[in-house]
Parts: sequence; C-alpha cells; structure tokens
Amino acid sequence: MIIAKALTKKFGNLTAVDNLYLHVRSGEIYSFLGPNGAGKTTTIRMLTGSLSPTSGAIEIDRKRYEQDEITIKRGIGVVPDEPRMYENLKGIEFIEFVKGIYHLDPKLTDQRFNELCAAFDIDFLQTYIGDYSHGMKQKLMVISVLMRRPKVLFLDEPTVGLDARAARVLKTLLDHFRNEGSAILLTTHILEIAEKMSDRIGIIRNGKMVVEGSMEDLRKIGNNQANSLEDIFLDLTSKDASAG
Ligand SMILES: Nc1ncnc2c1ncn2[C@@H]1O[C@H](COP(=O)(O)OP(=O)(O)OP(=O)(O)O)[C@@H](O)[C@H]1O
Ligand SMILES: [Mg+2]
Repeated sequence: MIIAKALTKKFGNLTAVDNLYLHVRSGEIYSFLGPNGAGKTTTIRMLTGSLSPTSGAIEIDRKRYEQDEITIKRGIGVVPDEPRMYENLKGIEFIEFVKGIYHLDPKLTDQRFNELCAAFDIDFLQTYIGDYSHGMKQKLMVISVLMRRPKVLFLDEPTVGLDARAARVLKTLLDHFRNEGSAILLTTHILEIAEKMSDRIGIIRNGKMVVEGSMEDLRKIGNNQANSLEDIFLDLTSKDASAG
C-alpha cells in the first residue's frame, strides 16, 4: 500500500533522506523510528504529498502523485507532527470543514464521529481551537482523520500531548484499523509503543535505513533474546555505531 523506492530529499548540502526503500502492506503497522533529525518527518511529508522528493519514487495504493495526487490525498489519513488547524474555528466547525472537503456521507460519518468523541472524551467542540491545549488539538486532529476510515494512515508522533487514557484509546483504534486491513505508518520516540504495536519496525539514522524487520528479527540482530527495543535502538543509533 505504501511504497518508497530510492527516496531521497536534499536541503542544500544536507541529505535529510538518503536512498530510502520502504514497503508497508495492508493490515500492517510499521513503526518508523530514529533519533531527532534522522529524517522521519521529511519522509512522511514526501509520502503524504506535502514535500516533493529530490529523487526516487512513491506509490500509494498503486498510484503515483505525478498522476493521481487528488485521489491519493482523498484516500490517505495524515496526522502530522504538529496539529496545525484554523485557530479561529470552533472544533465542530473544523469537523464540518473536513466533512465538506472530503465529501463525506453524513449518514456514515456522524455515527463514527460521535463514537470517536465518546472514546476520546471530547466535550470541547463548541469552543475555539485557538483556546485548546496541545492535547486537545491533537485529539481533534486524530478524530478528524479517523472518522474518514482511511485505508492508508500516516501518523507522525501521534501520542505526543495525549494523556494516558487517550493514548490507550488511540492504540486500540489503530490495532482495529490494522485488523480491518489498513496500512499504518507511524513514528514515535516511545519505543514501548513500537515494540508492542508494530508488525515491523524500521530504524533510520542520518536519513538511511539502519535496520528493518519484526521485533523478532531485530532481537536476532541484537544477538540476545533478552534485548529490548530500547537496547537495540540505542545500540544501532549510537554515535559510534558503524552503520549510517
Ligand atoms: N524544510 C527544511 N529545510 C532545511 N532542512 C530541513 C527541513 N526540514 C527538515 N530539515 C532537516 O532535515 C533533517 C531531518 O529532519 P526531520 O524533521 O525529518 O527529522 P525527524 O526524524 O522527524 O526528527 P524528530 O524526531 O526530531 O522529529 C534535519 O537535519 C532537519 O534539520
Ligand atoms: Mg519529526
């Protein structure tokens, strides 16, 4: 569902993403990990069509941005690293705006939306987004995406700002989406989330993939069954690690 081939992004002299290959299948949660500045957000921005690659190819559900940008964007769900929304709208107005631009059927969407509001304890839709806390904005962003039931989901550090209960709700929902066949690519610095939730994990450093595989595969690389993802991550991303 999500394919990147030789994906590269240069900002001047800096190669933020360097010849990256990615493949996230339907029914799979893929955790994309790496230290600060490794290139995760840059990769997601290219995969979601908000930043053009310097070189390389992207396919989303067998389509390419060069030909089918609108179709792709209509079908994917994106929770960006910062929940940027119109501050002078009320929460409910933002939701109506999203329903409008995606031409969502109110009969289908309203029920899902109400369920999501209940799950995330959202009772602030009548106030202005400008007055929301970070976590409140994040919850609104998450439900505005999930109410569309996208088959391809990108989430850049989605639990940042969420309280423990909301983070748990999100994890349960993502699990459900995966079981329904969605392809999910997420980034997180909370390795416990990646370890527990993902089918596969990719770790990047300096824009290059250092290691990729299931938790079991990664443990083999660590050569010790007891290794936690944290041990493996710190080992592979340390300054003197040979790769990258
Ligand atoms: N628009 C830009 N112009 C110039 N450099 C950029 C731009 N966006 C990102 N970078 C650089 O690209 C590199 C990768 O940044 P990116 O935001 O992708 O990292 P990240 O893996 O998401 O990090 P974090 O974990 O901190 O979110 C960094 O060195 C960053 O400074
Ligand atoms: Mg980032």
